[in-house]
Amino acid sequence: MTQKKTVLVTGGNGFIGTNLVRLLIASGAYRVVNLDALTYAANSLSLTDLDGHLDYEFVKGDITDRQLVASLFEKYQPVGIFHLAAESHVDRSIVSADDFVQTNVVGTYTLLEAARSYWTSLPDELKKAFRFLHVSTDEVFGSLGKEGYFTEETPYAPNSPYSASKAASDHFVRAYHHTYGLPTVITNCSNNYGPYQFPEKVIPLMILNALSGKALPVYGDGSNVRDWIYVEDHCKAVKLAFEKGKPGEVYAVGASNEQKNINLVNQICSILDDIAPPSEVHQLREQGLESYSELINFVQDRPGHDHRYAIDSAKITRELGWQPEVGFEKGLRHTIEWYLSNPEWVDQASGGSYSEWLEKNYAWRAKKESR
Ligand code: NAD
Ligand code: TYD
Repeated sequence: MTQKKTVLVTGGNGFIGTNLVRLLIASGAYRVVNLDALTYAANSLSLTDLDGHLDYEFVKGDITDRQLVASLFEKYQPVGIFHLAAESHVDRSIVSADDFVQTNVVGTYTLLEAARSYWTSLPDELKKAFRFLHVSTDEVFGSLGKEGYFTEETPYAPNSPYSASKAASDHFVRAYHHTYGLPTVITNCSNNYGPYQFPEKVIPLMILNALSGKALPVYGDGSNVRDWIYVEDHCKAVKLAFEKGKPGEVYAVGASNEQKNINLVNQICSILDDIAPPSEVHQLREQGLESYSELINFVQDRPGHDHRYAIDSAKITRELGWQPEVGFEKGLRHTIEWYLSNPEWVDQASGGSYSEWLEKNYAWRAKKESR
Protein backbone atom coordinates (compact mmCIF):
# COMPACT_ATOMS: atom_id res chain seq x y z
CA MET A 1 0.00 0.00 0.00
CA THR A 2 1.36 3.44 -0.92
CA GLN A 3 1.65 5.93 1.90
CA LYS A 4 -0.93 8.69 2.10
CA LYS A 5 0.34 12.16 1.24
CA THR A 6 -0.28 15.00 3.65
CA VAL A 7 -1.70 18.17 2.11
CA LEU A 8 -2.64 21.50 3.64
CA VAL A 9 -6.03 22.87 2.57
CA THR A 10 -7.02 26.44 3.43
CA GLY A 11 -10.71 27.37 3.64
CA GLY A 12 -11.82 23.75 3.94
CA ASN A 13 -14.99 24.70 5.81
CA GLY A 14 -16.25 26.90 2.98
CA PHE A 15 -18.39 25.78 0.07
CA ILE A 16 -15.76 24.52 -2.36
CA GLY A 17 -13.33 23.58 0.43
CA THR A 18 -15.86 21.22 2.02
CA ASN A 19 -16.44 19.45 -1.28
CA LEU A 20 -12.69 19.31 -1.99
CA VAL A 21 -11.76 17.94 1.45
CA ARG A 22 -14.36 15.19 0.97
CA LEU A 23 -13.04 14.36 -2.49
CA LEU A 24 -9.41 14.21 -1.32
CA ILE A 25 -10.19 11.96 1.63
CA ALA A 26 -12.50 9.72 -0.40
CA SER A 27 -9.70 9.20 -2.93
CA GLY A 28 -7.73 7.38 -0.22
CA ALA A 29 -4.52 9.09 -1.34
CA TYR A 30 -4.41 12.04 1.06
CA ARG A 31 -4.28 13.07 4.65
CA VAL A 32 -5.82 16.54 4.90
CA VAL A 33 -4.89 19.31 7.33
CA ASN A 34 -7.61 21.96 7.04
CA LEU A 35 -6.74 25.51 8.12
CA ASP A 36 -9.86 27.64 8.40
CA ALA A 37 -10.68 30.74 10.43
CA LEU A 38 -14.39 29.79 10.52
CA THR A 39 -15.67 33.17 9.33
CA TYR A 40 -19.38 33.80 8.75
CA ALA A 41 -19.07 31.82 5.47
CA ALA A 42 -17.97 28.61 7.17
CA ASN A 43 -20.43 26.15 8.59
CA SER A 44 -19.23 24.02 11.48
CA LEU A 45 -21.75 21.31 10.49
CA SER A 46 -20.26 20.86 7.02
CA LEU A 47 -17.48 18.49 8.05
CA THR A 48 -18.62 17.15 11.43
CA ASP A 49 -18.77 13.62 10.06
CA LEU A 50 -14.98 13.76 9.58
CA ASP A 51 -14.30 14.53 13.25
CA GLY A 52 -11.90 11.88 14.51
CA HIS A 53 -11.17 10.55 10.99
CA LEU A 54 -7.55 9.40 10.81
CA ASP A 55 -6.98 11.24 7.52
CA TYR A 56 -8.41 14.56 8.66
CA GLU A 57 -7.19 17.26 10.99
CA PHE A 58 -8.79 20.63 11.56
CA VAL A 59 -6.82 23.70 12.63
CA LYS A 60 -8.77 26.83 13.46
CA GLY A 61 -6.69 29.82 12.43
CA ASP A 62 -6.15 32.72 10.10
CA ILE A 63 -4.05 32.52 6.94
CA THR A 64 -2.63 35.96 7.75
CA ASP A 65 -1.08 34.54 10.94
CA ARG A 66 2.49 34.09 9.78
CA GLN A 67 3.73 32.15 12.77
CA LEU A 68 0.84 29.74 12.70
CA VAL A 69 1.15 29.10 8.98
CA ALA A 70 4.92 28.51 9.23
CA SER A 71 4.41 26.13 12.14
CA LEU A 72 1.91 24.08 10.12
CA PHE A 73 4.37 23.55 7.28
CA GLU A 74 7.01 22.58 9.84
CA LYS A 75 4.76 20.24 11.79
CA TYR A 76 2.95 18.43 8.98
CA GLN A 77 5.59 18.54 6.18
CA PRO A 78 2.90 18.61 3.46
CA VAL A 79 3.58 17.64 -0.16
CA GLY A 80 1.66 20.74 -1.15
CA ILE A 81 -1.12 23.16 -0.42
CA PHE A 82 -4.58 23.75 -1.86
CA HIS A 83 -5.29 27.41 -1.16
CA LEU A 84 -9.00 28.23 -1.13
CA ALA A 85 -9.50 30.47 1.91
CA ALA A 86 -10.92 33.78 0.77
CA GLU A 87 -13.59 36.39 1.18
CA SER A 88 -15.72 35.41 -1.78
CA HIS A 89 -18.87 37.49 -2.08
CA VAL A 90 -18.96 40.41 -4.53
CA ASP A 91 -21.82 42.22 -2.74
CA ARG A 92 -19.91 42.22 0.55
CA SER A 93 -16.81 43.56 -1.19
CA ILE A 94 -18.92 46.46 -2.46
CA VAL A 95 -19.97 47.33 1.10
CA SER A 96 -16.38 47.09 2.40
CA ALA A 97 -13.22 45.57 0.95
CA ASP A 98 -11.16 45.55 4.17
CA ASP A 99 -11.45 41.81 4.81
CA PHE A 100 -10.91 41.09 1.10
CA VAL A 101 -7.56 42.85 1.10
CA GLN A 102 -6.54 41.18 4.35
CA THR A 103 -7.50 37.62 3.51
CA ASN A 104 -7.21 37.48 -0.26
CA VAL A 105 -4.09 39.59 -0.70
CA VAL A 106 -2.20 39.62 2.62
CA GLY A 107 -3.30 36.06 3.43
CA THR A 108 -2.13 34.69 0.07
CA TYR A 109 1.16 36.56 0.40
CA THR A 110 1.62 35.12 3.92
CA LEU A 111 1.04 31.58 2.65
CA LEU A 112 3.41 32.09 -0.26
CA GLU A 113 6.17 33.31 2.06
CA ALA A 114 5.71 30.38 4.46
CA ALA A 115 5.55 27.92 1.56
CA ARG A 116 8.70 29.37 0.00
CA SER A 117 10.66 29.12 3.19
CA TYR A 118 9.55 25.52 3.79
CA TRP A 119 10.02 24.52 0.14
CA THR A 120 13.55 25.95 0.03
CA SER A 121 14.54 23.66 2.89
CA LEU A 122 13.27 20.46 1.23
CA PRO A 123 15.53 17.84 -0.33
CA ASP A 124 15.51 17.93 -4.16
CA GLU A 125 12.99 15.18 -4.76
CA LEU A 126 10.37 16.64 -2.43
CA LYS A 127 11.14 20.11 -3.74
CA LYS A 128 10.33 18.99 -7.27
CA ALA A 129 7.09 17.30 -6.22
CA PHE A 130 5.80 20.22 -4.07
CA ARG A 131 2.81 22.21 -5.39
CA PHE A 132 1.15 25.46 -4.35
CA LEU A 133 -2.30 25.18 -5.92
CA HIS A 134 -4.08 28.53 -5.90
CA VAL A 135 -7.84 28.39 -6.49
CA SER A 136 -9.00 31.50 -8.28
CA THR A 137 -11.92 32.82 -10.27
CA ASP A 138 -12.76 33.83 -13.83
CA GLU A 139 -13.96 37.18 -12.42
CA VAL A 140 -10.36 38.46 -12.57
CA PHE A 141 -10.82 38.74 -16.34
CA GLY A 142 -13.64 41.28 -16.08
CA SER A 143 -16.79 41.18 -18.16
CA LEU A 144 -17.56 39.78 -21.62
CA GLY A 145 -19.93 41.19 -24.21
CA LYS A 146 -22.22 38.89 -26.21
CA GLU A 147 -19.32 37.10 -27.90
CA GLY A 148 -16.09 35.41 -26.81
CA TYR A 149 -14.70 33.39 -23.92
CA PHE A 150 -12.13 33.78 -21.18
CA THR A 151 -8.97 31.71 -21.66
CA GLU A 152 -5.63 31.53 -19.82
CA GLU A 153 -4.42 34.30 -22.17
CA THR A 154 -7.18 36.80 -21.39
CA PRO A 155 -5.76 40.03 -19.91
CA TYR A 156 -6.73 40.77 -16.32
CA ALA A 157 -9.45 43.43 -15.92
CA PRO A 158 -11.09 42.98 -12.49
CA ASN A 159 -14.16 45.15 -11.94
CA SER A 160 -15.25 44.53 -8.35
CA PRO A 161 -13.24 44.90 -5.14
CA TYR A 162 -13.58 41.10 -4.78
CA SER A 163 -12.14 40.34 -8.21
CA ALA A 164 -9.45 43.01 -7.74
CA SER A 165 -8.30 41.27 -4.54
CA LYS A 166 -8.30 37.87 -6.26
CA ALA A 167 -6.38 39.33 -9.22
CA ALA A 168 -3.78 40.71 -6.80
CA SER A 169 -3.43 37.28 -5.20
CA ASP A 170 -3.03 35.62 -8.63
CA HIS A 171 -0.27 38.10 -9.47
CA PHE A 172 1.60 37.29 -6.26
CA VAL A 173 1.35 33.56 -6.99
CA ARG A 174 2.64 34.11 -10.51
CA ALA A 175 5.50 36.27 -9.23
CA TYR A 176 6.59 33.65 -6.68
CA HIS A 177 6.94 31.12 -9.46
CA HIS A 178 8.74 33.53 -11.78
CA THR A 179 11.08 34.96 -9.15
CA TYR A 180 11.77 32.06 -6.80
CA GLY A 181 10.75 29.02 -8.87
CA LEU A 182 8.07 28.02 -6.32
CA PRO A 183 6.04 25.30 -8.11
CA THR A 184 2.69 27.07 -8.29
CA VAL A 185 -0.43 26.21 -10.31
CA ILE A 186 -3.43 28.54 -10.66
CA THR A 187 -6.97 27.53 -11.59
CA ASN A 188 -9.47 30.19 -12.68
CA CYS A 189 -12.95 28.74 -12.48
CA SER A 190 -16.42 30.00 -13.31
CA ASN A 191 -19.42 30.15 -10.92
CA ASN A 192 -19.86 26.99 -8.82
CA TYR A 193 -23.12 25.55 -7.51
CA GLY A 194 -23.96 22.54 -5.37
CA PRO A 195 -24.32 21.42 -1.74
CA TYR A 196 -22.81 23.44 1.14
CA GLN A 197 -22.89 26.86 -0.57
CA PHE A 198 -23.53 29.73 1.82
CA PRO A 199 -27.00 31.18 1.15
CA GLU A 200 -25.86 34.67 0.21
CA LYS A 201 -24.93 33.36 -3.26
CA VAL A 202 -27.63 33.43 -5.87
CA ILE A 203 -28.64 29.75 -6.17
CA PRO A 204 -29.08 28.86 -2.47
CA LEU A 205 -30.48 32.34 -1.82
CA MET A 206 -33.25 31.81 -4.39
CA ILE A 207 -34.00 28.27 -3.17
CA LEU A 208 -34.31 29.28 0.47
CA ASN A 209 -36.18 32.54 -0.16
CA ALA A 210 -38.68 30.65 -2.31
CA LEU A 211 -39.27 28.01 0.35
CA SER A 212 -40.02 30.70 2.91
CA GLY A 213 -42.27 32.66 0.57
CA LYS A 214 -39.90 35.63 0.34
CA ALA A 215 -39.22 37.75 -2.75
CA LEU A 216 -36.64 36.41 -5.24
CA PRO A 217 -34.49 39.50 -5.87
CA VAL A 218 -33.17 39.46 -9.45
CA TYR A 219 -30.66 42.26 -10.01
CA GLY A 220 -31.31 44.67 -12.89
CA ASP A 221 -33.24 43.08 -15.76
CA GLY A 222 -31.91 39.56 -15.10
CA SER A 223 -29.99 39.45 -18.39
CA ASN A 224 -26.54 39.00 -16.82
CA VAL A 225 -24.95 35.69 -17.74
CA ARG A 226 -22.96 33.29 -15.55
CA ASP A 227 -21.29 30.04 -16.64
CA TRP A 228 -22.28 27.43 -14.03
CA ILE A 229 -20.23 24.40 -13.01
CA TYR A 230 -21.17 21.71 -10.50
CA VAL A 231 -18.84 22.03 -7.52
CA GLU A 232 -17.60 18.42 -7.63
CA ASP A 233 -16.53 18.87 -11.24
CA HIS A 234 -14.52 21.92 -10.17
CA CYS A 235 -12.95 20.00 -7.29
CA LYS A 236 -11.90 17.20 -9.64
CA ALA A 237 -10.24 19.78 -11.90
CA VAL A 238 -8.40 21.29 -8.91
CA LYS A 239 -7.19 17.87 -7.75
CA LEU A 240 -6.00 17.02 -11.25
CA ALA A 241 -4.22 20.38 -11.63
CA PHE A 242 -2.46 19.69 -8.31
CA GLU A 243 -1.40 16.19 -9.37
CA LYS A 244 -0.65 16.71 -13.06
CA GLY A 245 -0.50 20.45 -13.70
CA LYS A 246 2.81 21.96 -14.78
CA PRO A 247 4.46 24.39 -12.35
CA GLY A 248 3.89 27.98 -13.38
CA GLU A 249 0.82 27.10 -15.45
CA VAL A 250 -2.71 28.44 -15.29
CA TYR A 251 -5.83 26.43 -16.10
CA ALA A 252 -9.22 27.94 -16.89
CA VAL A 253 -12.08 25.73 -15.67
CA GLY A 254 -15.72 25.84 -16.75
CA ALA A 255 -18.51 23.55 -17.88
CA SER A 256 -19.76 25.50 -20.95
CA ASN A 257 -23.07 26.13 -19.25
CA GLU A 258 -24.08 29.76 -19.69
CA GLN A 259 -27.34 30.85 -18.10
CA LYS A 260 -29.03 34.23 -17.94
CA ASN A 261 -29.88 34.98 -14.32
CA ILE A 262 -33.60 35.22 -14.99
CA ASN A 263 -33.59 31.84 -16.74
CA LEU A 264 -31.65 30.34 -13.86
CA VAL A 265 -34.18 31.63 -11.33
CA ASN A 266 -37.06 30.33 -13.46
CA GLN A 267 -35.43 26.88 -13.59
CA ILE A 268 -35.05 26.86 -9.80
CA CYS A 269 -38.73 27.79 -9.45
CA SER A 270 -39.86 25.12 -11.85
CA ILE A 271 -37.86 22.34 -10.11
CA LEU A 272 -39.21 23.54 -6.75
CA ASP A 273 -42.77 23.59 -8.14
CA ASP A 274 -42.22 19.98 -9.06
CA ILE A 275 -40.64 18.64 -5.87
CA ALA A 276 -42.06 20.96 -3.21
CA PRO A 277 -45.22 22.60 -4.68
CA PRO A 278 -46.12 25.77 -2.73
CA SER A 279 -49.58 24.36 -2.00
CA GLU A 280 -47.93 21.53 -0.06
CA VAL A 281 -45.51 23.70 1.95
CA HIS A 282 -47.16 24.40 5.26
CA GLN A 283 -45.89 27.95 5.82
CA LEU A 284 -46.84 29.01 2.26
CA ARG A 285 -50.47 27.86 2.25
CA GLU A 286 -51.85 31.27 3.16
CA GLN A 287 -49.93 33.01 0.37
CA GLY A 288 -51.94 31.05 -2.24
CA LEU A 289 -49.02 30.77 -4.67
CA GLU A 290 -49.39 28.55 -7.71
CA SER A 291 -45.73 28.78 -8.66
CA TYR A 292 -42.64 30.06 -6.91
CA SER A 293 -41.99 32.19 -10.01
CA GLU A 294 -44.70 34.56 -8.71
CA LEU A 295 -42.12 35.61 -6.10
CA ILE A 296 -39.63 36.90 -8.70
CA ASN A 297 -38.88 40.54 -8.08
CA PHE A 298 -36.58 42.70 -10.23
CA VAL A 299 -34.56 44.92 -7.90
CA GLN A 300 -31.95 47.64 -8.22
CA ASP A 301 -28.84 46.39 -10.01
CA ARG A 302 -25.55 45.60 -8.30
CA PRO A 303 -23.14 48.53 -8.83
CA GLY A 304 -20.56 47.66 -11.52
CA HIS A 305 -22.37 44.37 -12.26
CA ASP A 306 -20.31 42.30 -14.74
CA HIS A 307 -22.49 41.40 -17.70
CA ARG A 308 -21.24 38.02 -18.82
CA TYR A 309 -18.71 35.37 -17.82
CA ALA A 310 -17.91 32.37 -20.02
CA ILE A 311 -14.93 30.02 -19.95
CA ASP A 312 -13.12 28.15 -22.68
CA SER A 313 -11.62 25.20 -20.80
CA ALA A 314 -9.95 23.55 -23.82
CA LYS A 315 -6.48 23.68 -22.21
CA ILE A 316 -7.27 21.62 -19.10
CA THR A 317 -9.21 19.15 -21.24
CA ARG A 318 -6.41 18.83 -23.78
CA GLU A 319 -3.44 18.78 -21.38
CA LEU A 320 -4.85 17.08 -18.28
CA GLY A 321 -7.83 15.16 -19.68
CA TRP A 322 -10.42 16.92 -17.48
CA GLN A 323 -14.09 17.00 -18.50
CA PRO A 324 -17.14 18.11 -16.51
CA GLU A 325 -19.41 15.17 -15.69
CA VAL A 326 -22.59 16.62 -14.17
CA GLY A 327 -25.27 18.10 -16.45
CA PHE A 328 -26.95 21.31 -15.27
CA GLU A 329 -30.51 20.04 -14.88
CA LYS A 330 -29.33 17.05 -12.85
CA GLY A 331 -26.88 19.08 -10.74
CA LEU A 332 -29.43 21.80 -10.01
CA ARG A 333 -32.11 19.30 -9.00
CA HIS A 334 -29.63 17.50 -6.74
CA THR A 335 -28.60 20.84 -5.18
CA ILE A 336 -32.22 21.80 -4.47
CA GLU A 337 -32.88 18.39 -2.96
CA TRP A 338 -29.79 18.79 -0.77
CA TYR A 339 -31.03 22.13 0.64
CA LEU A 340 -34.44 20.58 1.28
CA SER A 341 -32.90 17.65 3.13
CA ASN A 342 -30.50 19.62 5.34
CA PRO A 343 -32.59 22.05 7.42
CA GLU A 344 -30.13 22.05 10.34
CA TRP A 345 -27.27 23.12 8.11
CA VAL A 346 -29.51 25.77 6.54
CA ASP A 347 -30.60 27.10 9.96
CA GLN A 348 -27.03 27.38 11.09
CA ALA A 349 -26.03 29.23 7.91
CA SER A 350 -29.03 31.56 7.74
CA GLY A 351 -29.21 32.75 11.33
CA GLY A 352 -27.08 34.95 13.55
CA SER A 353 -24.59 37.33 12.05
CA TYR A 354 -25.74 36.74 8.48
CA SER A 355 -29.30 37.95 8.99
CA GLU A 356 -28.03 40.96 10.95
CA TRP A 357 -25.56 41.79 8.17
CA LEU A 358 -28.27 41.55 5.51
CA GLU A 359 -30.52 43.92 7.38
CA LYS A 360 -27.78 46.50 7.82
CA ASN A 361 -26.10 46.35 4.45
CA TYR A 362 -28.61 45.61 1.74
CA ALA A 363 -30.13 49.07 1.53
CA TRP A 364 -29.25 49.46 -2.15
CA ARG A 365 -30.88 46.17 -3.04
CA ALA A 366 -33.95 46.61 -0.90
CA LYS A 367 -34.88 49.89 -2.59
CA LYS A 368 -36.95 48.37 -5.34
CA GLU A 369 -38.18 45.31 -3.46
CA SER A 370 -41.92 45.51 -3.15
CA ARG A 371 -42.75 42.43 -1.11
P1 NAD B 1 -16.57 30.50 0.83
O1 NAD B 1 -16.77 31.95 1.10
O2 NAD B 1 -17.74 29.58 0.82
O3 NAD B 1 -15.52 29.90 1.89
C1 NAD B 1 -14.36 30.56 2.25
C2 NAD B 1 -13.73 29.82 3.44
O4 NAD B 1 -12.50 30.47 3.77
C3 NAD B 1 -14.59 29.82 4.70
O5 NAD B 1 -14.61 28.55 5.31
C4 NAD B 1 -13.89 30.83 5.61
O6 NAD B 1 -14.05 30.55 7.00
C5 NAD B 1 -12.44 30.67 5.18
N1 NAD B 1 -11.66 31.89 5.43
C6 NAD B 1 -11.98 33.17 5.10
N2 NAD B 1 -11.03 34.02 5.53
C7 NAD B 1 -10.08 33.26 6.13
C8 NAD B 1 -8.84 33.55 6.74
N3 NAD B 1 -8.38 34.80 6.83
N4 NAD B 1 -8.09 32.52 7.24
C9 NAD B 1 -8.54 31.25 7.15
N5 NAD B 1 -9.72 30.92 6.59
C10 NAD B 1 -10.48 31.90 6.07
O7 NAD B 1 -15.79 30.44 -0.56
P2 NAD B 1 -15.91 29.37 -1.74
O8 NAD B 1 -17.07 29.74 -2.59
O9 NAD B 1 -15.79 28.01 -1.20
O10 NAD B 1 -14.59 29.73 -2.57
C11 NAD B 1 -13.36 29.09 -2.28
C12 NAD B 1 -12.30 29.65 -3.23
O11 NAD B 1 -12.67 29.42 -4.57
C13 NAD B 1 -12.11 31.16 -3.08
O12 NAD B 1 -10.73 31.43 -3.19
C14 NAD B 1 -12.86 31.73 -4.28
O13 NAD B 1 -12.30 32.95 -4.70
C15 NAD B 1 -12.66 30.64 -5.30
N6 NAD B 1 -13.73 30.51 -6.32
C16 NAD B 1 -15.04 30.44 -5.94
C17 NAD B 1 -16.03 30.29 -6.92
C18 NAD B 1 -17.49 30.16 -6.55
O14 NAD B 1 -18.34 30.15 -7.44
N7 NAD B 1 -17.83 30.02 -5.28
C19 NAD B 1 -15.66 30.22 -8.28
C20 NAD B 1 -14.30 30.28 -8.61
C21 NAD B 1 -13.34 30.43 -7.63
P1 TYD C 1 -23.40 35.56 -7.04
O1 TYD C 1 -23.94 34.23 -6.65
O2 TYD C 1 -23.24 36.62 -6.00
O3 TYD C 1 -22.01 35.27 -7.78
P2 TYD C 1 -21.03 36.28 -8.63
O4 TYD C 1 -21.43 37.67 -8.35
O5 TYD C 1 -19.70 35.94 -8.04
O6 TYD C 1 -21.18 35.88 -10.06
O7 TYD C 1 -24.31 36.14 -8.19
C1 TYD C 1 -24.51 35.44 -9.41
C2 TYD C 1 -25.36 36.30 -10.32
O8 TYD C 1 -26.65 36.48 -9.73
C3 TYD C 1 -24.80 37.70 -10.49
O9 TYD C 1 -25.01 38.12 -11.84
C4 TYD C 1 -25.61 38.55 -9.55
C5 TYD C 1 -26.96 37.86 -9.53
N1 TYD C 1 -27.71 37.96 -8.25
C6 TYD C 1 -29.05 38.36 -8.26
O10 TYD C 1 -29.63 38.65 -9.33
N2 TYD C 1 -29.72 38.41 -7.07
C7 TYD C 1 -29.12 38.12 -5.89
O11 TYD C 1 -29.78 38.22 -4.81
C8 TYD C 1 -27.74 37.71 -5.88
C9 TYD C 1 -27.03 37.38 -4.61
C10 TYD C 1 -27.08 37.64 -7.12
